[in-house]
Amino acid sequence: KNIVILISGRGSNMQAIVDAQIAGARIAAVIANRPDAAGLAWAAERGIATVGLDHKQFASREAFDERLASEIDAFAPDLVVLAGFMRILTPAFTARYEGRMLNIHPSLLPSFPGLHTHQRAIDMGCKVAGCTVHFVTAELDHGPIVAQGVVPVLDDDTEAALANRVLALEHQLYPQAVRQFVAGELQVNGSRVSGVAASQ
Ligand code: GRF
Repeated sequence: KNIVILISGRGSNMQAIVDAQIAGARIAAVIANRPDAAGLAWAAERGIATVGLDHKQFASREAFDERLASEIDAFAPDLVVLAGFMRILTPAFTARYEGRMLNIHPSLLPSFPGLHTHQRAIDMGCKVAGCTVHFVTAELDHGPIVAQGVVPVLDDDTEAALANRVLALEHQLYPQAVRQFVAGELQVNGSRVSGVAASQ
């Protein structure tokens, strides 16, 4: 299965997926909306095709998404993986990849969609936090949940400490979810994913 990974920055989740060497998966390309994204250089060094597509060069979100889709489709992906891709996507874009686009979000959805998830969890006095892999739908951070991982929130936690704890779990959870997709083990039934969608 061909996989295209979209990133915006360091791409540590992308690296975890590449390093997992998932049977039956070929990382066809890594695409970033920031040409200077550190993850692009990492992927290029490993011989993976890379594309830097600067969203600031486009007049509208629609124009960027259309071009992004054509860049993605050039690699004929079976799966599109959003890994720290920090752009809101248009409904046309999410519809195009329905059922074959995954995202990872650093909270236990449906709690804390959007930004600053760790600080919000600390501020709310949450005792657990975590991350969620989900299929992407038009609504931000809301698609069918594939996998979740849980970590404790410690009394003296800082945003950075909690983020690091969650990130380590992301690096386990996301390759596992991609492996399940590639193996054909995930079926979307409405808002639910059945098969071996799992927690950790
Ligand atoms: C991760 O915490 C991811 O969940 C969030 O942004 C971060 C990206 O990190 N959406 P990286 O680029 O994968 O290192």
